[in-house]
Amino acid sequence: MTNELQPVRGTRDLIGEDQRRHHHVVETARRVAAGYGFDEWTTPIFETTAVFARTLGETSDVVTKEMYTFQDRGGDSVTLRPEGTAGVCRALVSNGLTQSLPQKVFYAGPMFRYERPQKGRYRQFHQIGIELIGPSEPLADAEVIACGWHIIDALGIAASTVLEVNTLGDRESRQAYRDALIGYFTARKDRLSEDSLMRLDRNPLRILDSKDAGDRAIVAEAPTIAAYLTPEAAAFYDTLRRHLDRFGVPFRENPRIVRGLDYYGHTAFEFVTDALGAQGTVMGGGRYDGLVAEMGGPHTPAVGWAAGIERLAMLLHEAPSVPGTVAVVPVNEQAEPAAIDALQQLRRAGIRAEMAYRGNMRRRMERANRIGARAAVILGPDDIAQGVAQVKDLVSGTQEPVSLDALADRLK
Ligand code: HAM
Repeated sequence: MTNELQPVRGTRDLIGEDQRRHHHVVETARRVAAGYGFDEWTTPIFETTAVFARTLGETSDVVTKEMYTFQDRGGDSVTLRPEGTAGVCRALVSNGLTQSLPQKVFYAGPMFRYERPQKGRYRQFHQIGIELIGPSEPLADAEVIACGWHIIDALGIAASTVLEVNTLGDRESRQAYRDALIGYFTARKDRLSEDSLMRLDRNPLRILDSKDAGDRAIVAEAPTIAAYLTPEAAAFYDTLRRHLDRFGVPFRENPRIVRGLDYYGHTAFEFVTDALGAQGTVMGGGRYDGLVAEMGGPHTPAVGWAAGIERLAMLLHEAPSVPGTVAVVPVNEQAEPAAIDALQQLRRAGIRAEMAYRGNMRRRMERANRIGARAAVILGPDDIAQGVAQVKDLVSGTQEPVSLDALADRLK
């Protein structure tokens, strides 16, 4: 019998070092994105199913097999969000913001996909993301990518990732390219995997993304979009690359990037790493000029990206440390009231301070050492009567009396 009181497959608890890594990624991203003018939005974790089903692509893996969709008690079909972009566009329209552009949105939170769990791939995972809604200029794409790169650099992991960019062209370029791909793959139909055969008619671009070894050999020789770009689409891509150079963002071109969701046109990009095994994409995004209109709003250009927090956290070289604690140690029960005063004085000053809930002085000092406290504030009746406490530096071992009013200043 399986134990029902286990975490659901593909979910995990964030505790201790895992939580600190996670928090560090979000805080760093939030700070850097704020510097680029992005404001944080929080949208609901679940939405009406149509918000995703209509917009992410009828043939995408996410919509066909990965959504957590259920009927709520009122009989409505709702879905736990598999990504953040659709919800942000829905919110833009619902809140009447389509005339207040540009909107620069940052978000962070859990996403849900019924995927096969493995290292770096979960059923509940977390994303940070930004969406720049309004501008149609490639300068916006470059700024969005620069912000992503800046976050990765601020996390100290730029050396283990590579930015790959591609263009998916405009509608006309994509149609021409699609026809070319159908011709190419149809001629090699007998060697394609079953999955790719299914994609052949409906979405041949997705074959370029196949993980099947046989497919990959065929894909390696497939035509690239370059020859099918309209002059406008080619110019857009040229300008993007020029801006990326100007922003100082190193990148390489990869004509095989197609992305797993269907809403993209023009820019598509991914930050990839080979440090995480099979789940090598840490950040992905691109331009999606049609999504707001599909959500019922006016035609509204937009570009953005999202990154897996778990994947970024795994790349961090070391876990952020816990700030050093100050242990407050009353030598007996009579000293506890003064100890509580000292404790709160330190906390009000933003100093992490703790006091054990019981035990004699020896026990409490032992505990202070066990939790790695940086200092102990020892309070005995005689010292208190003189208005001082003994402050012991637990790293050097030195001890000195400090006026009770000056504890926070001394321990800052
Ligand atoms: P995505 O490529 O589906 O794009 O996901 C973005 C990132 O989320 C991935 O590169 C990966 O790091 C992380 N991720 C996805 N699935 C999982 C999983 N099952 N477990 C762990 N991490 C995962 C989007 O979601 C788009 N909304 C990005 C975007 C924003 N495009 C424009 N704006």
